[in-house]
Amino acid sequence: MQVEATAPGKMILFGEHSVVYRGPAVVLAIDRRARVYASRRDDRKVYVDADNLGFSGYFEDDVYHSVRGKAWRGRNLAALNVAAKKTMDHLGVESGVNLKVRSMIPIAVGLGSSAAICVATVGAVERLFDAGLSKEEISRLAFEGETIIHGKPSGVDNTVSTFGGVLSYERDAGIKHHKLDSSMPFIIGNTRKKRSTRKMVESVAALKERNPALMDSIIDSMGGIAGEGLDALLAKDIRRIGDLMNMNHGLLSAIGVSTMKLESLVHTARQNGALGAKLTGAGGGGCMIAVAEEERMRAVEKAIRRRKSDSYRVQLTDRGVESRWIEEGNADS
Ligand code: MEV
Repeated sequence: MQVEATAPGKMILFGEHSVVYRGPAVVLAIDRRARVYASRRDDRKVYVDADNLGFSGYFEDDVYHSVRGKAWRGRNLAALNVAAKKTMDHLGVESGVNLKVRSMIPIAVGLGSSAAICVATVGAVERLFDAGLSKEEISRLAFEGETIIHGKPSGVDNTVSTFGGVLSYERDAGIKHHKLDSSMPFIIGNTRKKRSTRKMVESVAALKERNPALMDSIIDSMGGIAGEGLDALLAKDIRRIGDLMNMNHGLLSAIGVSTMKLESLVHTARQNGALGAKLTGAGGGGCMIAVAEEERMRAVEKAIRRRKSDSYRVQLTDRGVESRWIEEGNADS
């Protein structure tokens, strides 16, 4: 027998980057999931099979040994090693694990793929040892893995991936859960350009260091937009949601995290009838999101695709991390 755990990706509607300093951010779990299969080993290795990404290997005393693919790929897998080991340390077990990772969340484009993989890893490992950890504990342990990839993340990604649903998140004040039906008219546009969240967060920190007072007021404005954006979202007032998305995007451009391609998709979406459009996540490439009346959605999606980008409707999900025992051999490959 082995364990299968899954966790969702996310879309930040308001408050990326500002949430690193102070909140809130408004974030929604989306129906694209990371999947991790876990089984026990007799030794103390953490073996990670990411074969469908073209690499696999194992960690022994935190040193990566490649089995398939280039050795530097170990950097991509280090977060999983940390998440698995921190979980086993927390549970007081001395063991090794095999982890097999399969994800439907596009990587490094702002949809929370790395957090979802870390959350699913913790979810799988804690279930493997029948620990019954709370979601708070799972999220906290996944955050330790995230830190390896992202430096000083706010914690918003692992939180929404663990709990699912619609959340407002503040680093110190924590999370508030909100009810929303799953039919909100959001579209994601994916530039397909990968980027590093760590580097984008560092570039904003450097800008803040050079311009502290102005950056403080931009961050406060982003927080204000997120606060009002939450009210508009809960009222399903899509015109105001659109206005606030446009304002938020303007401020994200002001802090240097937009790109020509993102600008092009944002303006294309608006020209084709979107009520609002903005980049989502860390920027520097990755994804943008748009909101439109139902009758304009197809036009917006098609216009984004004409710009050599992917586009899909957002399906929200209330399902956070989940795990179950399955027969060995029943894992999707
Ligand atoms: C990453 O999905 C969002 C950022 O705000 C970074 C973070 O919150 O850690 C850019």
